[in-house]
Amino acid sequence: MENGSGHNNLLQIIGNSQAIRHIYEVTAKVSNCYSTVLILGESGTGKELVAKNIHFNSSRADKPFVPVNCGAIPTELLESELFGHEKGAFTGAIATRIGRFEMADGGTIFLDEIGEMPTILQVKLLRVLQERSFERIGGTKTVNVDVRIIAATNQDLELSVKEGRFREDLFHRLNVIPIELPPLRKRTEDIPLLCGHFIEKHAKRFGRNPITLTDDALKIFTDYAWPGNVRELENAVERLLVLKDNDVIAPYDLPERMTGKKIPDLPDIDDDDVNPFVGGIDLNAALEEYEKRLILHALELHNGVKSQAAKYLNINRTTLIEKMKRLRL
Ligand SMILES: Nc1ncnc2c1ncn2[C@@H]1O[C@H](COP(=O)(O)OP(=O)(O)OP(=O)(O)O)[C@@H](O)[C@H]1O
Ligand SMILES: [Mg+2]
Repeated sequence: MENGSGHNNLLQIIGNSQAIRHIYEVTAKVSNCYSTVLILGESGTGKELVAKNIHFNSSRADKPFVPVNCGAIPTELLESELFGHEKGAFTGAIATRIGRFEMADGGTIFLDEIGEMPTILQVKLLRVLQERSFERIGGTKTVNVDVRIIAATNQDLELSVKEGRFREDLFHRLNVIPIELPPLRKRTEDIPLLCGHFIEKHAKRFGRNPITLTDDALKIFTDYAWPGNVRELENAVERLLVLKDNDVIAPYDLPERMTGKKIPDLPDIDDDDVNPFVGGIDLNAALEEYEKRLILHALELHNGVKSQAAKYLNINRTTLIEKMKRLRL
């Protein structure tokens, strides 16, 4: 597998930023060693995707990849979930049950949201990391497993260590190969590629034409902060595919949250606006550019409803339509 891409499209890590290219390199290198990997990044940055890539590109690929969300399972259940229990270990333990570590034997366990791991379980986990062995709850027999451990968190674990919420020895055991996924707003050059990828992925699924974004719409995409990172971008693309019938997406097709309600800035005067004969400013071109921006802004605010946009601009609807024609909007 080259470039860290997976067996199929669903596992492909898309991007051409320095950060993503670094991730291709590291995932390729760690795939065939046993070392523990710690994946750090905000929500939706692709931590699980990277974990799966490491597993499915490794010699363990035909063995299980077992994810556990340590933050979503209550403490009492999490211990049994991870390590299993013997029959009669506690009320309701009517049969022996193996835990996720045993299920992952030969393969990879993905400990998601490791920062949420309760302190009492951190000790038991530390031992698994050191010895690859543990006892089931209520059991005396030591269970040995051959498991690759990948952990992920969106928390600042070093801070959690300082504040006493996370064991320092466990942190060092996990932090053998750290992989950091920067937030999407810090790798905006990946946004057009990701858009194209998700358009292709979902247009097929909905049996509709792919969409294209106008340059202005794409600029809004790249300027937006994406607090939910790649997941939010994927959802935004999916929504456009479902809700919009047009094949070309313009700024006013985008949600207000993304476009903002700010009145557009005055345009930068670029070479096109400079009158080549006198070397000054082409006033008409510059005014036309600003007129265009204000009209688009009005249309965005009113979801493309021309009568409302015209009212907002204090012009007639017919005047607006004439202007849009002249400005080719
Ligand atoms: N670089 C990428 N290329 C293609 N798809 C991506 C990329 N990064 C993330 N995705 C997709 O975005 C979605 C979210 O990614 P993932 O679940 O791996 O994020 P996460 O970091 O685990 O998020 P959370 O912290 O919320 O669990 C998934 O559908 C994933 O396939
Ligand atoms: Mg995740």
